[in-house]
Amino acid sequence: MKMTAIEKRFVNSTSHALTVAERAKQLLSRIPLQSGWRYLDVGCGVGAAARDIATRNPLSVTGIDVDPKQIELARGGTANLNLQFRVMDATRLEFGDGEFDIVASHMATHHIPDWERAFSEMVRVLRPGGYLIYRDFMFPSWLARIGKKLLRFMGFPSIGKLHSLAPAAGLVELYESKESGKVDSIWVKNG
Ligand SMILES: C[S@@+](CC[C@H](N)C(=O)[O-])C[C@H]1O[C@@H](n2cnc3c(N)ncnc32)[C@H](O)[C@@H]1O
Repeated sequence: MKMTAIEKRFVNSTSHALTVAERAKQLLSRIPLQSGWRYLDVGCGVGAAARDIATRNPLSVTGIDVDPKQIELARGGTANLNLQFRVMDATRLEFGDGEFDIVASHMATHHIPDWERAFSEMVRVLRPGGYLIYRDFMFPSWLARIGKKLLRFMGFPSIGKLHSLAPAAGLVELYESKESGKVDSIWVKNG
């Protein structure tokens, strides 16, 4: 689901971009990176985190977002040969199985009604032994059940669902932090 103009004002602001990029950097620092690894940012918005990561690390970074206007803004920064942005739906990723070493998604899945499908797509494009960085609001299970019926344009990820989906998809948890109704997590795909 594309964001409203009001949401975009907040999410695309410089201060938010700095916060997102900083958190993405902190999470990435927990992974033993290798030069040339391919990194995918799903629901990248205006690409603040993806750009920062491509600038600081010897990685090949791709950001995707369903909203062409967000991608247009993301492409507007300084050219970087290791960074590309594409318009794409997270529930139908146009990549082959196991194409990426790291897949990250920051605060995007609550915008995706079928967030479980997006999650499974992220796991599909991750290579065995690769890392999934997943960050979003976690709704209490009861609220997720009601929300799904009433607000069909939104996604309602919950910790219960995440903790059943991830192991079933062959992910092993490396790190988790819960704060202010959000989860920051890193998973490794069984290889
Ligand atoms: C709250 S913003 C987060 C952007 C960025 N990751 C950040 O943390 O600032 C959510 C983003 O998810 C994107 N989005 C929503 N539904 C999507 C989908 N089905 N596929 C890809 N991106 C989607 C929106 O266009 C928006 O840019």
